[in-house]
Amino acid sequence: MALIFHSNVASPAPWIAALQALMPDLEIRVWPEIGDPADAEVMLAWLPPRGSLARLPNLKLLQCMGAGVDQLLADESIPPGLPVARLVNDNQTAGMTEYVLAAVLRYHRRLDEYARFQRDRHWERLPHVDACDRCIGVMGLGDLGRAVADKLALLGFPLVGWSRHPKELAGIDTFHGPDGLQLFLPRCEILVCLLPFTPSTADILCRDLFDRLPRGAHLINAGRGPLLVEEDLLRALDDGRIAGATLDVFRREPLPVDDLLWAHPKLTITPHIATIVTPQSTAPQIVENIRRVRAGLPPRHLIDRSVGY
Ligand code: NDP
Ligand code: OXD
Repeated sequence: MALIFHSNVASPAPWIAALQALMPDLEIRVWPEIGDPADAEVMLAWLPPRGSLARLPNLKLLQCMGAGVDQLLADESIPPGLPVARLVNDNQTAGMTEYVLAAVLRYHRRLDEYARFQRDRHWERLPHVDACDRCIGVMGLGDLGRAVADKLALLGFPLVGWSRHPKELAGIDTFHGPDGLQLFLPRCEILVCLLPFTPSTADILCRDLFDRLPRGAHLINAGRGPLLVEEDLLRALDDGRIAGATLDVFRREPLPVDDLLWAHPKLTITPHIATIVTPQSTAPQIVENIRRVRAGLPPRHLIDRSVGY
C-alpha cells in the first residue's frame, strides 16, 4: 500500500524525507507516477487533479496539505464516504498568530500613518488609544481563531468572537449565528476574519457587513478570498467606512498584476503566506493518521463534508 503525493507547488523530496524519517517503510509515489491505482492507501494533496480520487479504489484517506479544504471539496467526484482530514499543528497556529498580531499592532499603533509622516519628514504625535480600549473581533473561533484571540487577550485587547455554534471562551465575548453577527459587528474596531470558505460564508465580507462595523474600522482577511466582495471593500475604503485592510487571500491567486487591489493606498497585500506548513512540522500528524486508518480508527482533524470545513 502506498501514499500518493500530489502538489503543483511543493517539491516532493522534503516531504518524502520528513515522512520516511518517521515511517521508514512508507512507500510514497509522486503523482502522476502512481503505479497500480489499487495500491493507493492515502492521498496527500492540496489540490488533487479533478476526478483523480474516484480512480483510486482502495483509498482510505484524503489528507489535505493545509487547514482549509474548500479547494479540494470543489471536486464533486471525491467519493462520498472517503474521509478527508486537514492539517492542524502548533507551527501553523503560531504562524497565523504572528501574522494577525503584526497587522493588528500596525493598525493599533498607527504605524502606517507614521511611515507616511517619515516620508514627509513630518513630526506629529497622533492621538493614542490604549489596548484595553480597542476591541478586536475575530470571525471564526476554530483552531486558528481561538489561538489568535488568546494571544490578543494577553496583550490586553478586549475581544469579541463569532462562530456558527455557541461557545464559552475565557476572556472573549462570544456570539454565534446570523443574529449574533448583528450584535458582534458594531463592537469590532479591528475585524479579523479566519472563517473557512463554505456555501454559508461566501461573500460574507460585503457592504452590508461593513456598514455595521464602527466607522473607520480595519479589516484583516486571512481566511479565504471568496469571503470578501472586493468591490464593496474598495468602496468602503474610498468613503472612509473602512480605514484600511490587510488581505492575504484572494478570489484569484496569484493576484493578477493588473488588479486594482495592488495599488490601493489603504491596502496591505501579502501572497497567501499568513501561515505556511513545513514537511517537518506536519509529518507527525500525517504519519499518525496513516497509522490510525490502518488500524481502522478515524483520522485526526476529520472535516465534516456536509458543512464544508
Ligand atoms: P476551523 O475549522 O478550526 O474553524 C472554523 C471556524 O469558523 C469555527 O469556529 C466555525 O464555527 C466557524 N464557522 C464556519 N462556518 C461558519 C458560519 N457559517 N458562521 C459562523 N462561523 C462559522 O478552521 P481553522 O481555524 O483551522 O482555519 C480557518 C480557515 O483559515 C481555514 O478554513 C482556511 O480557509 C484559513 N487558513 C488560511 C491560511 C492562510 O495562510 N491565509 C492558513 C490556514 C488556514 P464553529 O466553531 O461553531 O463550528
Ligand atoms: C491553509 C492555507 O488552508 O495555507 O492551510 O491556506
